[in-house]
Amino acid sequence: MRCLLDANLNPEGSCLANKLGADGASPKDILTLILDLFQGAMGTVPLTLTWALYHVSRCPDIQELARKDLLRIMPTKDSRYYESAGRRAELLFQASNASPIVQAILRETLRLSPPAIGNGRINSKDLILGGYLVPAGNMIVLQSQAACRLEEYFERPLEFIPDRFIHSEKYHKKGGVNRPFGFGPRACIGQPFAHGQSTLALSKVLRNFEVTYNREEVGVINRLHNEPDRPVIFKLDQIPY
Ligand code: HEM
Repeated sequence: MRCLLDANLNPEGSCLANKLGADGASPKDILTLILDLFQGAMGTVPLTLTWALYHVSRCPDIQELARKDLLRIMPTKDSRYYESAGRRAELLFQASNASPIVQAILRETLRLSPPAIGNGRINSKDLILGGYLVPAGNMIVLQSQAACRLEEYFERPLEFIPDRFIHSEKYHKKGGVNRPFGFGPRACIGQPFAHGQSTLALSKVLRNFEVTYNREEVGVINRLHNEPDRPVIFKLDQIPY
């Protein structure tokens, strides 16, 4: 907060705090946004990757399927970008350049092991929700993590099945509850960046290594984000080609 107030003292400054202040944001709002930015950027993608690797290490057939696809898209060990129609596709964030299986693994990871439990909102008006009056000014938390684990919304909800995001017609599902990045005007602004980072990192690891995990089952502990309850130590064996 002290650094923020220092920055705001300089009306000519061009940092994010000055810009938000000039748009009328209060110091408390600016601090919240900057903390969100750091927390969002630093915590969530590594957690998503850890959970994705944990899940695929327990499903060797899914890992093998992903590797087969990645070897096609990334022909050499040091392929830096997805090759598309014979030329370098530098547009990392373009989903069409990525392996559909890696995308499905990430989507299923975010369904089953999302970094955030859900989304919080304070209602500005009185609301009737499920027959209950919720007076204005209350914190309402949409627990999408819990909803994503209910049979009502997903078939075999506790199983890691990336295929449900590839052959979606084969699986019973009700839409609207799986919102790992939130929704509306306050949805995650880092989603495209997170998508690019996690797609590239997971693709590189699965392309070049066979990932196994031979230790005890990992549980979840919620601090600000959903974290593993113990160190998750993988064994990585190099793919020789
Ligand atoms: C897998 C990665 C990520 C997940 C699952 C995630 C999830 C979320 C969720 C659930 C919210 C609240 C949305 C809502 O209330 O509707 C949020 C907000 C936010 N995220 Fe992310 N996030 C991720 C990565 C990132 C990254 C990489 C950045 C920054 C580069 C970032 C920056 C933010 C910011 C600044 C907000 C607050 C937006 C606002 O209040 O207007 N996030 N994120």
